[in-house]
Amino acid sequence: MRNCVDLSGKVAIVTGANSGIGKGVALELAAAGARVVVNHRPNEDSARRAAEVVQAITQAGGAAVAGPADISREDDVERLFGIAQERFQGLDILVNNAGIEQPAPVQDMTLDQWQRVIDVNLTGQFLCSRAAVRSFLKQHPSPPADTAAGAIVFISSVHEVIPWAFQANYAASKGGVSLLMQSLAQELAPMKIRVNSVAPGAIRTPINAPAWNTPESLVQLLKLIPYGRIGEPVDVARAVAWLASDSADYVTGHTLFVDGGMTLYPGFRGAG
Ligand code: BGC
Repeated sequence: MRNCVDLSGKVAIVTGANSGIGKGVALELAAAGARVVVNHRPNEDSARRAAEVVQAITQAGGAAVAGPADISREDDVERLFGIAQERFQGLDILVNNAGIEQPAPVQDMTLDQWQRVIDVNLTGQFLCSRAAVRSFLKQHPSPPADTAAGAIVFISSVHEVIPWAFQANYAASKGGVSLLMQSLAQELAPMKIRVNSVAPGAIRTPINAPAWNTPESLVQLLKLIPYGRIGEPVDVARAVAWLASDSADYVTGHTLFVDGGMTLYPGFRGAG
């Protein structure tokens, strides 16, 4: 399928871009012409994977640089945004993708499991959004006439609306992302900064491998997906590229579910 979104001349930071959905988004934005900072956690394995993403982009004729940072840490986030400035002299797009899961029955969930998920999935998205807004406002002290001053796309989840037993920390973080996104959209629209979310359903990535990597688990998973297939990172990436682009110039404060119908309560088809 051909990419019809044009991001040439734009600079993007994608958090958690060394694997899964983040990697798919980084590749898609670069294919659409953006220069991309490929964020990864500062450890050897993530750095190696991020380097592979950077290499794939540059080999295809694009521009990318790796950006190590634990996005739940304020000083790391400042450094990450410094890389976009130093290397690409600006910022137009932030994709707030990095996220983790730490499932546990609530009676066994440790404060650390609760806190870590909130720190990465919610506080990290706040820290990166704040840094992005500061960059956008510096570049555009007054709102530009014909385009946005910047675009933020949160990667949320169907679990911003679907409750998730044994993942209360994760669902709470994504519920928080929903109102964080809408509040920022309301606050920043007069500055012509657009803020939206993409909410993926079940996408084939390492985070949910047990849900699809055996024939039995895949059969169970597909019962939740009316469209009849698991999602791929590129399904999400295409939606992100559009929301980040000038083609979506009048779209702000919106959550676009990319879930094959998971949020349509498929259990009610012919029942209830
Ligand atoms: C989670 C996945 C899960 C999907 C649908 C996502 O937000 O990260 O693990 O498969 O929601 O339940």
